[in-house]
Amino acid sequence: MENFVYEYPTKVYFGKEAAKTHLPGVLAAYGPNVLLAYGGGSIKKNGIYEEITGILKDAGKTVTEFTGIMSNPTFDKVLEGAALARACHPDLVLAVGGGSVIDCCKIVCAQAVEVEEENLWELEMQAHRVPTRDPIPLGAVVTASGTGAEMNGGAVITNEEAKIKGGMFSRPPRFAVLDPAYTMTLPRMQVISGAFDTLSHAMETYFGRSDRDNTSDEVAEAVMRNTITNMRTLLHDMDDYTARSNLMWTSAMAENGILKVGRLTDFECHQIEHQLGAYTDCNHGQGLAVIHPAYYRQIYRSAVPKFARFARNVWGISEEDDEKAAQAGIRALADFIQECGLPTRLSQLRSRVAITPDLLLQVADSTNLIPNGYKQLTHDEIYEILMKCL
Ligand code: NZQ
Ligand code: ZN
Repeated sequence: MENFVYEYPTKVYFGKEAAKTHLPGVLAAYGPNVLLAYGGGSIKKNGIYEEITGILKDAGKTVTEFTGIMSNPTFDKVLEGAALARACHPDLVLAVGGGSVIDCCKIVCAQAVEVEEENLWELEMQAHRVPTRDPIPLGAVVTASGTGAEMNGGAVITNEEAKIKGGMFSRPPRFAVLDPAYTMTLPRMQVISGAFDTLSHAMETYFGRSDRDNTSDEVAEAVMRNTITNMRTLLHDMDDYTARSNLMWTSAMAENGILKVGRLTDFECHQIEHQLGAYTDCNHGQGLAVIHPAYYRQIYRSAVPKFARFARNVWGISEEDDEKAAQAGIRALADFIQECGLPTRLSQLRSRVAITPDLLLQVADSTNLIPNGYKQLTHDEIYEILMKCL
């Protein structure tokens, strides 16, 4: 294995009625002011807002609301939240939502404690430094799973002006409340695209260029198999609580660092999707679903034994010849994407602009090149991959 340091800074409260059961006790450890953050209003329709504000009220908290956090949150929204936090001095920021709300709040918590003229986008993305001050404590109540944002310190933020969707860093939430019942009102496509994001995280980790590890890869295979099985269960019955709860935990498992222990990771497919998102505002999991098979067809020849192992251990393919098994594994992935009803072409993505070859050239040219995959891509190859997806 590669050398590593591992710690688990986020305390997880998992299960039915987890908020009602645990939040009162958890909140007692924080001061009286809470900044309650959420998205476009789904929590007001499904009763989660009422439940959480009731718990906050019973705990005697003074609540300020930070609302309207959009999917693919922008750095402008971070600045809005940071200004609000500076004005109301929260002892805790409570993010109630999916990856977008949690990510936005991670950076709000860090930006709010900086001197006002220090801009974390410039510090992190341009000067490549990390914030050093202790951020405002953050707690997460997850209402949409898939990203695993609730158990890591990364945050994916879009700078609309610069047309960059990039990874920023703060501290992970101090605690995360994971009640699978809170995800029951998610639209079907968001459930499936979120779960595909989980599968993607496990694959991106597994296909990093290091084969000295074994424990992490075997855990990753289990996470992938479990994600696929439970997605298939949901395709037949979206209300299956057991499948929802398994997916909620595989989501956290795929991004809490445990699969990454002792190994290099790839995440080139994520880099491509993030830039596609910066230009189109497409749904993250759906963008990944389109790009993954094309990306793997481009790189598998550099790692035939690993792709063959993926085919056999994740998809149950019994082919003995490695090359044929590797191809069959990628075909199984592509077929599964279709079975899930996820988009398979870029033209099927919801996009705020037309997806043209010119736009894809800009996406390809602005994509980060990751050195840790089995094949180091060039911008030209990324363009080739994207054109194959059009
Ligand atoms: O905004 P509201 O009205 O709440 O609606 C949301 C949103 O429209 C809705 N929703 C959430 N919970 C719901 C619900 N609707 C009904 N019932 C509920 N219980 O779902 C929609 C999508 O929410 P969003 O948070 O945008 O989705 P997701 O969790 O997939 O997060 C996507 C963001 O996370 C980033 C992505 O790039 C994207 O910006 N990622 C973050 C990562 C991380 N921090 O580790 C890793 C990932 O790879 C990913 O990049
Ligand atoms: Zn992702």
